Amino acid sequence: MTSFRDARIAIIGLGGMGVRHVRASRQLGAQIVALCDTRGEALEAGLGEAPGAATYRSLSDFASAASRADLVSVVTNTSTRAKILMELLRAGARRVLTEKPFSTNLADAHAVTAAYEQAGAQLTVNTYRQFCDNHIRMRDLLRSGTLGQPRHIAIHSASTGLGNMGSVFFDLMNFYLDSRPVEVTGAIDRTGTPSVRGPQFRDPGGWAVVRYENGARGFLDSSEDTGVPYTLHLVTTYGRIVIDELFNHWKVSVRSEVDKARPLTYYPAPLADVSFELTHGYDPVQMTGVAMAAALNGLPDAANARQAVTVMEMIIAVHVSDAAGRVPVRLPLEGQHHALDIPFA
Ligand SMILES: NC(=O)c1ccc[n+]([C@@H]2O[C@H](COP(=O)([O-])OP(=O)(O)OC[C@H]3O[C@@H](n4cnc5c(N)ncnc54)[C@H](O)[C@@H]3O)[C@@H](O)[C@H]2O)c1
Repeated sequence: MTSFRDARIAIIGLGGMGVRHVRASRQLGAQIVALCDTRGEALEAGLGEAPGAATYRSLSDFASAASRADLVSVVTNTSTRAKILMELLRAGARRVLTEKPFSTNLADAHAVTAAYEQAGAQLTVNTYRQFCDNHIRMRDLLRSGTLGQPRHIAIHSASTGLGNMGSVFFDLMNFYLDSRPVEVTGAIDRTGTPSVRGPQFRDPGGWAVVRYENGARGFLDSSEDTGVPYTLHLVTTYGRIVIDELFNHWKVSVRSEVDKARPLTYYPAPLADVSFELTHGYDPVQMTGVAMAAALNGLPDAANARQAVTVMEMIIAVHVSDAAGRVPVRLPLEGQHHALDIPFA
């Protein structure tokens, strides 16, 4: 599908992010055919952005209408999504885009993923960066080997919750380090910062050290004692990438060809800037639109639920490691941890 003018999109969950899905659909030029929320005022907000869409307050009525759409977006709160995803599948939906974090426990993430695979239905989790041109070209640059190999990534994300922004950053770690995470050691922050989405949600921050199959290391710090925009710092054999995504500052630098031949112990080798043009700014509506387009086009990478399960493993592993005294935990997690449920928003 190259033009989305004939694409029909249905959306359930019309809080702040659901409205972004409505706007992203409109930016693609698609038709929004069905909207659902349990709250009347949220439904009104959605309808204000998509006049003419059919509106629903109940999941069963929405599911049968949504199953005839080309894409269904699930943008309700995390604990509700597994049930909704299963109901949509039963009703016959074939392409679904769901929000992150994927689920509140691993059992749901595995069950939903297996059900979609068995039915041959496409499930996309909206960690949209992998579909965005800037990140794809940056990974292409890494894969070209000009900077050597990616060995270290450190991500700082202030006070945002391991489910909320941790799900984005573990996913980006896996994307850039291009390897399988095999072990997580972590700690949960006990500050108790309230969720901005309501007291029924609890999603502590914390820190994690991730060891990868290829020997690379990932570090995430989302502790609840800082309040600055997130940054990603990636170090390769000879180079460095610093991404301040919210403010569109991306900087790449590398040793000269002469210095690449010198030993790695020669750390004072100056790094020269590598030109890297951004083709788009940070815009969650536009970036969600890119994920929607990938899902509508049925791109191979759009079926990313397995990767999202791995990300859930990493988040839950931080909780498991913390409870066991901050010890290293092997991935994939054993079945006994699949029921551990964290009330992410
Ligand atoms: N990918 C991203 O960048 C990104 C950004 C923001 C939020 N999110 C995720 O999107 C989800 C929604 O975030 P939000 O900020 O819109 O939350 P929100 O709490 O503002 O909105 C959620 C909406 O879902 C509705 N809802 C809940 N259960 C429902 C059900 N069973 N049936 C129908 N409607 C239901 C609620 O009434 C509410 O209107 C969260 O899980 C959040 O983590 C992702």
